[in-house]
Amino acid sequence: MTKPPIILAIDVPDVELAAQWVKATSEYVSMIKLGLEFFIKCGSDGVRQLKEIAKCEFFLDLKLHDIPNTVGKAAQNAALLQPKFLTVHASGGRDMIGAAVMSAPDVDVTAVTILTSLTENDLREIGFSQSPLEAAVGLALLAKSAGARALVCSPHETAAIREAVGDAMVIITPGVRPISSQSDDQKRTMTPAAAIAAGANYVVIGRPITSQWSNGLDAMRRAADEIVQGLK
Ligand code: C5P
Repeated sequence: MTKPPIILAIDVPDVELAAQWVKATSEYVSMIKLGLEFFIKCGSDGVRQLKEIAKCEFFLDLKLHDIPNTVGKAAQNAALLQPKFLTVHASGGRDMIGAAVMSAPDVDVTAVTILTSLTENDLREIGFSQSPLEAAVGLALLAKSAGARALVCSPHETAAIREAVGDAMVIITPGVRPISSQSDDQKRTMTPAAAIAAGANYVVIGRPITSQWSNGLDAMRRAADEIVQGLK
């Protein structure tokens, strides 16, 4: 049976708790995503332990951004953990993305376009003169030409990016929120169903599911189930 196109963001610095989240939600998600919060505390050993428990593909969201040599070496070492996806910032440029691709040929190097937490004002402040949409499409095309096989973008930019890059690239969208949920620090949100309809292959969902943990395992499952039902 095909699993729902949901990637669960495991943003917690604790292998035990992460393992409980993984076990509670395994029937509702295709993949887990381990990011900086988990990785910086639990390291490669934590990733290996969780992989053993999860027994599903995983996404290593390290958002690498440094000189090409450093990113290439980092990607080579990250590849030893055998993630399906590994993120780099597209704004690191062609050579940096290319270095990751060359150093981790078995991993889908995934370029983050514009963070979904940034507004147009935030972008102007950090020196982008284009709109978020124009900047994201430009970065997506750059990443494709540098050899990236997947992209992370806002659901609002998904349709334009899909049109620009074609069908072969995998598009993953965070910044999705079920209607009943608050947006946390995500500024440009959309529902999971709308993101998939716009051309995303996967949606990344964290807090709308994981924050329910404090209300118990069943509350967490109910939140996941509600999102899966919304995708049907
Ligand atoms: O909790 P929430 O659903 O907001 O989780 C979103 C996840 O997606 C976080 O782990 C965050 O690091 C990640 N992400 C994002 N925006 C991007 C890339 C990744 O929110 N552009």
